[in-house]
Formats: sequence, structure tokens, C-alpha cells
Amino acid sequence: MSNRDAIVVENLTFQYPDTETPVLKNIHFTLKEGEVLGIIGRTGSGKTTLAMCLNRLVPTVIQGNLEGTISVFGQDISQRSVADMADKVGFVFQEPENQLSQMTVEEEIAFGMGNLGISREEMKYRIQETLKQVGLEGFEKRSPLALSGGQQQRLAIASVMAMRPSIMIMDEPTSMLDPRGKNEVYDVLRKIKTYGMTGVIIDHEVERMASYCDKILVLDDGEVIMFGTPKEVFSELTLLHEMEMNAPQVTELADRLRKELQIDVGSPITVEEAVKAFQIVSIK
Ligand SMILES: Nc1ncnc2c1ncn2[C@@H]1O[C@H](COP(=O)(O)OP(=O)(O)OP(=O)(O)O)[C@@H](O)[C@H]1O
Ligand SMILES: [Mg+2]
Repeated sequence: MSNRDAIVVENLTFQYPDTETPVLKNIHFTLKEGEVLGIIGRTGSGKTTLAMCLNRLVPTVIQGNLEGTISVFGQDISQRSVADMADKVGFVFQEPENQLSQMTVEEEIAFGMGNLGISREEMKYRIQETLKQVGLEGFEKRSPLALSGGQQQRLAIASVMAMRPSIMIMDEPTSMLDPRGKNEVYDVLRKIKTYGMTGVIIDHEVERMASYCDKILVLDDGEVIMFGTPKEVFSELTLLHEMEMNAPQVTELADRLRKELQIDVGSPITVEEAVKAFQIVSIK
């Protein structure tokens, strides 16, 4: 992992024109290149607004008063337009249908690249490359509307990836999908991570996030309540419960075992960690 800062957010405060108080309050965090940040928080806590600040949708398209600074790879983005940011910060939205507008899968991927001045040859190459990356080879001529939800979301991811952004932001990319669709998308995300891409993902899937994310940021009422590794954040059960959130089920189980049965298996955050912890306890 590189030591370069990918995203540095300092003193970020944002207020929509028609609200009385800011929806983001004095936000600070740093994400290194190659890291994936997971943002969690209850509904209305400001997750989407924060994500949209990172690609300038807020405040250039969705307006309001923004204070503080955001730097992407060392550059202050305050003078940038959304178009300007498109090849640096890719954005995948919650509903794939809203992001898909073309007649065929290949046109869909070409569409995003359209404004980047990429040659036809290079476009063809990237279409094949990204279709392979998301497991949609052979679907070139299909209508995006004739794909399953998981396939549509993977296509939306492919369209963004084809622009080769350094940072991928995904706002609840799996919330409209069934378990199979969620697995398909997370499989793709894990692969993207191996390419060393920097990512920001908003999701409620704490089990998946525990193993996928390098850092977790907990937002509540526009404030950063916690920022740290999944281990650090998910072991703060009392704090999470106060905000109506849960840690992964295995972490919750370990906590109950300690409190109710005085069995200490530590604070595993993934099933694999839990199995190891139980092995040690059962040997004793
Ligand atoms: N365009 C807007 N104008 C005014 N207020 C807005 C606008 N968009 C969002 N808000 C308000 O800002 C706050 C944060 O909203 P945001 O969508 O960022 O939250 P969120 O954490 O993404 O919620 P969810 O989990 O429901 O997606 C909410 O109180 C919301 O009502
Ligand atoms: Mg949201």
C-alpha cells in the first residue's frame, strides 16, 4: 500500500440552502491511496451528502454552503467542476437503472468515456477489459434493461471503471439487491481492491464491510463519531447501539458470551476470526 494521501478532508461543514443547521459538521479524515473507506450511519446522518462532496456534485450541482477543504491526491478540489473530477473520482449510485441510459451494454460503457477524449481503439479495449473485470463478457449487445439487478449494478461499476478513476465512490451499491446480487457486487469490489484502487463505500452491510474495508467512518447527525479500522470501530458496541447500529453478528455474539456466560473470545469481526477465537477457547 502506498503512503500517498488519496483524500484529505479538513473542517468540512456543509449546509443545504433550506435547512437551518449544517448536515455535515466539521468533518475530518484522511484516506491513503489503495485504502477502502466504509461509511456507516443511520438514515439522514449525511452519508450521501459527504460522498457527493468528494466529487463536487455537492456543492456545484446540488447547491449549498460548503466550508473547509477537500484535497484529492494533494490537490484542493474547491475550484473543480464535476466534469473535471470525472476521471479522478467515479461515482456509482444506489439504483443502477438510474445510471443506465444506453441501448446496449457496450454503448453504456462507451458513454461514460465519451467526454474524456479517448480514441475508439482504446475505448474498445477498455470495454472488453472492464466487462471481463465485472464478469459480463458476452453481454456486449444486450440491453442493460434485460440484465438482473446484480448484473446492472456490475455494469454501472464497469462504466465508471472504464473511465479509470483513481477513486471509486459507491453509495449503497447493493441495497437494492438480493443476497446473490450482493455477493456478485462484493466479489467485483474485492477484485477492484486488488488493483490498488482507492474506494469509498456507503453500505449497511457491516458483515461484508468488516472484511472488505480498511477504515470505517461512523457518521451521526452530520458528525464523525468514530473513524478507525473495522476492528477499532466495531468493538465499540455500546456506542454503535446508541446510534441504532450493530457490529457484525460475530462481534455481537462474542460480546454476549463475555457478558452472559463469562466466555472470552475477544472481539472477532469476521466469521474466520471467530472460528479461530473459538478454537483457542475450546482447546483451553
Ligand atoms: N437537496 C437537499 N436539500 C435539503 N436537505 C437535504 C437535501 N438532501 C439531503 N438533505 C438532508 O440532509 C440530511 C442528510 O441527508 P443524506 O441524504 O446525506 O443522508 P444519508 O445518511 O445518505 O441518508 P440515507 O441513509 O437515508 O441515504 C438529511 O436530513 C436530509 O433530509
Ligand atoms: Mg444516502
